Amino acid sequence: MAPALTEDVSLVATASSAAHDAKASASLGAVTGPAQSPAMDKLVGDIRAAFEAEKALGHTIDNSQDPESFQRLNAKIQGLLKEYAQHNPHDWRRYAFFNDVHYVRNLVEGNSDFELIVLCWKTGQVSRVHNHANSHCWLAVLEGDMREVQYQRVQEHGGPHQPPFVDELAAQAAARRSDGGGLHLEGRALVDETKTTDMRVGDVGYINDHIALHTVGCHMAPGALPADGCGGGWVAQGGVTLHLYAPPIRRVRIYENDGITERTPGYYSRAGVRV
Ligand SMILES: [Fe+2]
Repeated sequence: MAPALTEDVSLVATASSAAHDAKASASLGAVTGPAQSPAMDKLVGDIRAAFEAEKALGHTIDNSQDPESFQRLNAKIQGLLKEYAQHNPHDWRRYAFFNDVHYVRNLVEGNSDFELIVLCWKTGQVSRVHNHANSHCWLAVLEGDMREVQYQRVQEHGGPHQPPFVDELAAQAAARRSDGGGLHLEGRALVDETKTTDMRVGDVGYINDHIALHTVGCHMAPGALPADGCGGGWVAQGGVTLHLYAPPIRRVRIYENDGITERTPGYYSRAGVRV
């Protein structure tokens, strides 16, 4: 992954990334997508309603949320994402821009409560190890075979208070710890690899900083890409995932062998329009 870009997610159009973007513009994937996205529009409305219901009860929505409120919201959101991803109306294609060099973030909906983003991954593209600030992160696979690898921060074990709803998940993650992989800084372990999950179309996952850090990537072979499934000239280029971040993530930590850096996430497109 080229170091010039400013975020986990490829990102932001900086001067130094312009060349990559210019090159990538010749291989955009969204140009054949539908002009309308009624199912996605409904999903956005249903997500908004779920958030409003919790806010009306006085709950703040972040990774320190009231446990009962979170359990309600989590069940609702996972159900909505699973329904959309498994039914898979393919109207997400209007948002699905790809880049030859990096996976990219395509904003569907952004407001003060949440961001809904279509991430596009050509085969072999993988994120760096990253956190999710104080946000919830839900993830649904819309196309392709994806893999999530979770990591525990070695230096931060026993750190800040963890809300009850994540204690059990964090304990499970700790129990899975192994020395099989991870990152090291100046000979010291920085993060330990703890869990690998292969995800297929329709699968939904959830993570926050109390549970783990992670990477996500598309590991499928180019020859395994599906053919056009619903007309419109769509040609699959890799994996596509739908991410819901709540609240929106403004700063993300990237964990690499040469240390930890903070980045500002950016967008490759907004509302189906390349930026
Ligand atoms: Fe992530």
